[in-house]
Amino acid sequence: MNSTLLLQPVEQTEITKKIDHDPILKVENLKVHFPVKTGIMQRTTGYVKAVDDISFYVKKGETLGIVGESGCGKSTMGRSLIRLNEPTEGSIIFNGNDITSMTEKELRPLIRKKIQMVFQDPYASLNPRKSLGNTLIEPLKAHGLYSNHKERNEKIKELLNVVGLHPSSMNHYPHEFSGGQRQRIGIARALVLNPDLIIADEAVSALDVSIQAQIINLLEDLQEQFDLTYIFISHDLSVVRHIADRVGVMYLGKIAELAPKDELYVEPLHPYTQALLSAVPAIRSKGTETRERIVLKGDIPSPINQPTGCVFHTRCPVRMEHCQVAKPTLKEVKPGHFVACHLYE
Ligand SMILES: Nc1ncnc2c1ncn2[C@@H]1O[C@H](COP(=O)(O)OP(=O)(O)O)[C@@H](O)[C@H]1O
Ligand SMILES: [Mg+2]
Repeated sequence: MNSTLLLQPVEQTEITKKIDHDPILKVENLKVHFPVKTGIMQRTTGYVKAVDDISFYVKKGETLGIVGESGCGKSTMGRSLIRLNEPTEGSIIFNGNDITSMTEKELRPLIRKKIQMVFQDPYASLNPRKSLGNTLIEPLKAHGLYSNHKERNEKIKELLNVVGLHPSSMNHYPHEFSGGQRQRIGIARALVLNPDLIIADEAVSALDVSIQAQIINLLEDLQEQFDLTYIFISHDLSVVRHIADRVGVMYLGKIAELAPKDELYVEPLHPYTQALLSAVPAIRSKGTETRERIVLKGDIPSPINQPTGCVFHTRCPVRMEHCQVAKPTLKEVKPGHFVACHLYE
């Protein structure tokens, strides 16, 4: 799309103008729209609005959880933060630098080292013919870190130890590791360049529950040890509850609600968050009482033809007439608790 859009000043939103500290990451009015091309002429006939006007910030050292059903734009949002998907509009400020429209050369020293991603399936991105040692050493070489082979090897051994793998695993190949071990490798690879921010996208979603807990514990230990900041993306609300400090709920490319974890899980305000949480039995029971299960009617609308007004109105059990026409904005209804819903205006 028109890249000059990026150069226009971005208005501060309610959620970002309240920041009273230096956030490690500040995202304002971020949109990532993918063109839909049809016919033999491949004309652009519409846009998949995967991320559609999102604003949030992340404090140094915290874990921001991002939840929402499949297809709501979580991965696209995460990828756009490191420019794996190009933002269509809005701004991304990392450590005070506007990285939204920087060139690859400018990005390299700023974010290619400092922001790393951990994916659901690290195996998919590992070269089957490369030993683990060689895989991990590559980024060190590419960034010209450490002067010789011995120093690099030492660094890798130390790193393997930190993520709970035996130093001898250096000589092993990807297929020789279990699912949990592969995720430890994924984490080691994310850590090798000493990042500040790690974006974990469904990082434990493919693992058995007992292994999930081990990896979550490992991530928490590493966070403390290396002063890391996390954005932890998952469709699994129970997993996010374990690790996050604050949680943002996404629906159709937008943030429906964002709040400190305990508040969000105990007292969700947005009808969508209430429905999502009510579908998880372990979360539904609050003390001795059990909340009612809220079953949403209909399917999630297509991100190409989004509903008018509030994007959730077609499925909202408490919709009002003007929800069909007026778009709600994310408003702070309690300190640090933001909701985009006309019920709270
Ligand atoms: N490269 C792409 N081109 C077109 N559409 C895409 C692309 N990547 C993702 N999408 C669409 O964007 C929407 C959000 O996808 P995604 O970010 O993967 O959601 P989530 O991670 O929450 O499951 C989906 O409708 C998906 O099909
Ligand atoms: Mg995803």
